[in-house]
Amino acid sequence: MSESHSHSRSADESRALHAVQEAADNVRAGRREFFKLTGLSAAALGAAGLAAPDEAAAQGHGGPYAREFVLEARRLYMNVGTTGSTPRDVLRELAQNNREVAADPLTSFATQTLRNTIAAGFGADPNEIVMSFNTTDGMSKIMAGLVLPPGSEIITTNMEHPGGNGPMAIARDRMGLTLRRINLPTSDAMSDAEVLLRFQQARTAATKAIVFSSPPFLTGVRLNEKQLCTWAAREGLISIVDGAHTPGMVDLNFHDMGADFFAGSGHKWQCGPGQTGILYVRNGNSPAAYTKTATVYNGFGTPTTDNVVLNLPAYTNQNALPRFFPTVSAAYSGAPGSVLANGERSASQNVAATLMSIGNPSYPALKALQEVCSMWDRWGRQAIEDYLVALAQYLRARLTAVWGARCLAAPYDSATPHFARVGLTAFNPFSPGFDFNADLTVAQAAEQTAASGAAVTALREQFNIVVRNTNCPHSLRSNPALAADATTTGATTSSHPLRISTHLFHDARDVDRLVRALLQVVPRR
Ligand SMILES: Cc1ncc(COP(=O)(O)O)c(C=O)c1O
Repeated sequence: MSESHSHSRSADESRALHAVQEAADNVRAGRREFFKLTGLSAAALGAAGLAAPDEAAAQGHGGPYAREFVLEARRLYMNVGTTGSTPRDVLRELAQNNREVAADPLTSFATQTLRNTIAAGFGADPNEIVMSFNTTDGMSKIMAGLVLPPGSEIITTNMEHPGGNGPMAIARDRMGLTLRRINLPTSDAMSDAEVLLRFQQARTAATKAIVFSSPPFLTGVRLNEKQLCTWAAREGLISIVDGAHTPGMVDLNFHDMGADFFAGSGHKWQCGPGQTGILYVRNGNSPAAYTKTATVYNGFGTPTTDNVVLNLPAYTNQNALPRFFPTVSAAYSGAPGSVLANGERSASQNVAATLMSIGNPSYPALKALQEVCSMWDRWGRQAIEDYLVALAQYLRARLTAVWGARCLAAPYDSATPHFARVGLTAFNPFSPGFDFNADLTVAQAAEQTAASGAAVTALREQFNIVVRNTNCPHSLRSNPALAADATTTGATTSSHPLRISTHLFHDARDVDRLVRALLQVVPRR
């Protein structure tokens, strides 16, 4: 145990630390199990490029998979929420594939094979998984493809990212829609039930769709995606999830979630190369699980067998498929009966192929996205989620022990409610009483903006630790009547929490290093 653990820990901190160690053991056990199954010895792993080279042991980051990454050794990178870091073996393949394409420019990879390989890992049919450019690209394609009558309303939130807000604003202006925003509750006001209630209260006869990000980038507090999507389905509403952060962070199951559309990043927690994303378009409504035969490649592009049976989960959302146009596609003809003609849908269509028919992509980048997804499937998506959540809970327990129960965007709860099943943690040591929900005057907000920015800079320059802060609308206080929407007020009383990302390449010692640094750069009791 490092000396960093020598401070006297609260019971919550001790329990959380134990959970981190247990989750890390599970991740490592899954890895050993995989190697056993593949029959690869350590020597063979090295030859196959699957073992970490020795110099990786000098890696500054901890965590069960730190050695798989090439992160700068002394810097502690905790801003995966902005973008991730591609694993070394995938980087090597990417470089090699780029070279192959340069040597023989007509080299390509069948994108259907890539989709066949990754879709089941997301609880989706290969026809539903579009390898997009990023979340913003996905949200743009979703919002532009919807067909809604003028006067329709979309319920969304006050915490959407520009990557969702921009496409929504275009849809509003093109189709004559109204965007109604609910204020998401935070800290002591946060609960799944409260979020659902606020959506329900905003619903009118004109409501046609809901759009929400989970987790919102400002707080990192996860919403209950399935609860919101199934409510929307029951009400006959289309559900659209901006899930930028969740691919690679949590074990997603799109059929079970019930979303009609989901846009996420491939380059954040999934650690794919830049400009990669996962876009899901629900393309069925089977109430029963089903199987599908497809070609699946494992590991680094080696076919395990030509035909593999995918076991795909039942659809929670059994509504008819909403009309949808592939607004960027070379495969659309509009001929009667052709794919997505006039936006009409049927479960037999290959929506993903239509949306990926966009001229020449970067095949090596798409291949690399498939490889990181396969890597995660192999390592075990549930084990990865459990580790990330345990580590984030340890961080939250440590922050709570120093700054108190109200410093976090959602209260620390050792029972780990759904809203805590996320690798992002926002906390605010700058507000009066270290209270995330404290009301700020304009002057206090200005002071906080400066203090928070200075803390991010000090962490980077003095401690070589990278986090970010966010500009959180001052709407989220226990009393929603105090709400002020950042988009309409200019956010003059918004707060500036710090936002920390903890991933597979971090461990409890990294969290301790961060907390030690925080104790020196932010206000404390
Ligand atoms: C909630 C949310 N949506 C969208 C985006 C944009 O992501 P991308 O860079 O993948 O387009 C982000 C990025 O931080 C985000 O947090």
